[in-house]
Amino acid sequence: MTSTAQHADLDDLFADDAIRDPYAFFGRLRETDPVHWNARHQLWIITRHADVLTIVRDHAAFSSAVIQSDRRPPYPPVDDNGVALLDEVRRFRGAQLVEQDPPRHTNMRRLLHQYFTAQAIEAWRPFIRSAVAELLDELRPGTTFDVMTALAAPLPVRVIAHLMDVPPTDRAKLREYADKLLYINRGEPNRFATLVEGIRGMLDYAAPLADARVSEPGTDFISVLAKGEHLGIMDRYELLVNCALLLFAGHETTVNLIGNGILAFIRNPDEWEKLRANPELARRATEECLRFDPPVTSTQRIAAADIAIGDRTIRKGERLRWIIAAANRDPEVFPEPDQFHADRHPNPHISLGAGIHFCLGAALARVEGQELFRALAERVSAFRLETPEPEYQPSIQFRSLRELRVTIEGPLE
Ligand code: HEM
Repeated sequence: MTSTAQHADLDDLFADDAIRDPYAFFGRLRETDPVHWNARHQLWIITRHADVLTIVRDHAAFSSAVIQSDRRPPYPPVDDNGVALLDEVRRFRGAQLVEQDPPRHTNMRRLLHQYFTAQAIEAWRPFIRSAVAELLDELRPGTTFDVMTALAAPLPVRVIAHLMDVPPTDRAKLREYADKLLYINRGEPNRFATLVEGIRGMLDYAAPLADARVSEPGTDFISVLAKGEHLGIMDRYELLVNCALLLFAGHETTVNLIGNGILAFIRNPDEWEKLRANPELARRATEECLRFDPPVTSTQRIAAADIAIGDRTIRKGERLRWIIAAANRDPEVFPEPDQFHADRHPNPHISLGAGIHFCLGAALARVEGQELFRALAERVSAFRLETPEPEYQPSIQFRSLRELRVTIEGPLE
């Protein structure tokens, strides 16, 4: 195969290979061309751990305001209806915290951060533990179930709904909108139609919640956002968008931490035994699940200046995707990078980002993972995989199993 042909293959970010096994797909790039110009989608692909960290930590050179600054059409192209919806999509995405640069980012982040510190989240641990216990009580040994719908989705949805003080009866609706928002980084030409249904659904859903908190603030997270409006840090539209972002980011990613993590344990029964023998390993195991099969496989930046990375020069205005799935398997940083070791330590994965945009919900996601993996290890001796080759949603950003059918072997302890 010529090098051009090889690059043609490796430039199709939505190819079946890339979705099924991003580790092999982007691993090839990391070994052969770690700062790679993707001609098909007109962007740089960054795959080495060290380069990713350099970029993510240098927020002055690599702006997060991708949607606001980038006037190029979406990739891959959208249909005519999608083109008509583009401004609405841009406005929504452009108002999110994750799309801001300093000083706007600094003010918004300061407001929200207090609610999500590791210390503040520890106070929620008992609630999360009881939510896990309730879910596990519903499992029945010997029956086949879908991990995604029985465990992976209900836990984070229950937790974020509780934190945001939204009624339990609304959980299914939240899940439906979140599923539609997932279309953001898919490849179908008609993807914006579903995405915009999710955007409008989330915004309409958040509007009365925000109204109520503005007039009568409580201690929940939406009230923190409402305070931001009161202080002039954000306007009402931004309040609603960030409420929607939190409802979405606050559970969609954790769903995949749980689904991908359980799959990793099923495929590595010795590691499950290790955790069962010592449930105290749940913290390290959660980090390894995050590293090994990360819920977010890549995200983006746009260059704010000309800057060299390795032997390539990235020009102002060019887009980049940094590939967590490749950096987390970089052999320069991780011994036996393709092996899943539940007790791996140290584990400097970048699944939660780095620098000023480091995941706001990191502590929350970690506590949910730790509590779930620990409780499962205490009660379940083994899972049998009923779908030998599970399939993934065709997204270049989220590593999201369509379903994961398993049977619990042996009695529940
Ligand atoms: C395992 C679960 C999670 C993963 C893998 C994850 C991953 C990430 C990553 C990689 C970033 C950095 C994005 C960038 O730099 O462009 C990020 C940012 C963010 N995450 Fe998470 N996340 C998770 C859970 C959560 C939860 C539970 C919440 C909310 C409760 C949340 C809210 C956010 C927010 C608001 C940002 C933007 C922060 C900023 O721009 O300052 N995430 N997340």
